[in-house]
Amino acid sequence: MPSGAEYLDFLTGQRQTRDFTSDPVSDDDLGAVLETMRWTGSASNRQPWQFLVVRDPETIAKLAKATMFTFWLPKAPIVIVVLTAGSDRYAHAYDLGRVDERILLASQALGLGAGIVTFGSDSAQRIAHEALQVPGDWSVYSAVAIGHPAETARPAKLGGRKPLDELVHWDRFTRS
Ligand SMILES: Cc1cc2nc3c(=O)[nH]c(=O)nc-3n(C[C@H](O)[C@H](O)[C@H](O)COP(=O)(O)O)c2cc1C
Repeated sequence: MPSGAEYLDFLTGQRQTRDFTSDPVSDDDLGAVLETMRWTGSASNRQPWQFLVVRDPETIAKLAKATMFTFWLPKAPIVIVVLTAGSDRYAHAYDLGRVDERILLASQALGLGAGIVTFGSDSAQRIAHEALQVPGDWSVYSAVAIGHPAETARPAKLGGRKPLDELVHWDRFTRS
């Protein structure tokens, strides 16, 4: 078991991967990622999701056309899409974000890389729905690509994070 400090380093060291080798992800690793996703908590334990595992390169290529930020998806051997259904969009967005984060962290724990994409606009959602052949009552808001990170995989250009003194308020919120 990692120590608490090692585990926190693992969490803060998680970076978006957008470049992958051609090595396949093993069935064991994929199964472990899916099992980790399955255990994600949700409001009232409703688990309002289905997991769509996309391995077909043609489908991934179609999905990559959804936005200008999804072009790199075809480098990944697997793209996992968490589909959500129902009318409470905010609650489901929250649940969905939790599952996507677990894909990132489970992948990292296995020595894989992973990266999120989102299909925020109406046109992106339409392209994603068509590419994945998902019925309209299931929402396709995001996807997470997983694979073995390429040597050339680099942190995002902007990288880094805001310092805590720009983020944290003590006892009451004050505008800076
Ligand atoms: C909600 C959300 C949507 C994102 N959408 C995209 C995307 O469409 N394409 C992409 O390349 N990265 C996307 N990212 C990844 C972010 O760019 C990345 O998390 C951020 O730049 C920090 O990168 P780092 O952890 O490597 O420093 C998204 C991340 C989140 C949380």
